[in-house]
Amino acid sequence: MRPAGPPDGSSRHGHDDDAVAAAMRAVDRRAFLPRAQRRWAGQDRPLAIGHGQTNSQPSTVAAMLRLLDVAPGHRVLDVGAGSGWTTALLAVLVGPSGGVLGLERDPDLAAWGAANLATAHASWARLEPARRGVLGTPGERYDRVLVSAAADALPRALVDQLAPDGRMVVPVRHTMLLVEADPDAPDGTRVSEHGSYSFVPLVEDPPGPSGPAAG
Ligand SMILES: C[S@@+](CC[C@H](N)C(=O)[O-])C[C@H]1O[C@@H](n2cnc3c(N)ncnc32)[C@H](O)[C@@H]1O
Repeated sequence: MRPAGPPDGSSRHGHDDDAVAAAMRAVDRRAFLPRAQRRWAGQDRPLAIGHGQTNSQPSTVAAMLRLLDVAPGHRVLDVGAGSGWTTALLAVLVGPSGGVLGLERDPDLAAWGAANLATAHASWARLEPARRGVLGTPGERYDRVLVSAAADALPRALVDQLAPDGRMVVPVRHTMLLVEADPDAPDGTRVSEHGSYSFVPLVEDPPGPSGPAAG
């Protein structure tokens, strides 16, 4: 068993002092786990949070947050907020001058994740149920978009929600993609690949009546 602490690979990769390592130290992962899983919080592996979903592997979360390059004051969308852990980490990274919206498809998880997030006392971050059949909040623009579930193809609806200079980190099938808004690129974005990962699927429901998705 690994020792407790922030298992984000920071020492191995020379990131001990960066903002992501500090955020992972500041947010207690145990507060975002079911009671029975808390003793494993220091391990670098995904942990079950019920409803067939997981609290993601810490080293993967750290790698995604580093790619995302979040700064104080940013507006961030967290798609697949689950336990609320990534939403809380993003809240630390943006600080009180920024804002974070976490969206979770499963309404029960969304309610539990929101309660977990409340323990972080970051009023500039909130976690809500995703609207059925809608990815993100169309019409809004975000400096950063984090997607913690694997899409079958680059989700255009989320690309359209990137602000100028925006960045999105999203697993597509098994490849982690960084999408950077770039007005000089032919379709307005540059896409680069950053390793192979395994994620639960990003579910794209058909549009339905208003209200949260069924679980
Ligand atoms: C790996 S899990 C949770 C990761 C989460 N960031 C955490 O740290 O606990 C990914 C989550 O994405 C959710 N999800 C899948 N499709 C979604 C969608 N279209 N919109 C919002 N959430 C979605 C799943 O229900 C699941 O809870």
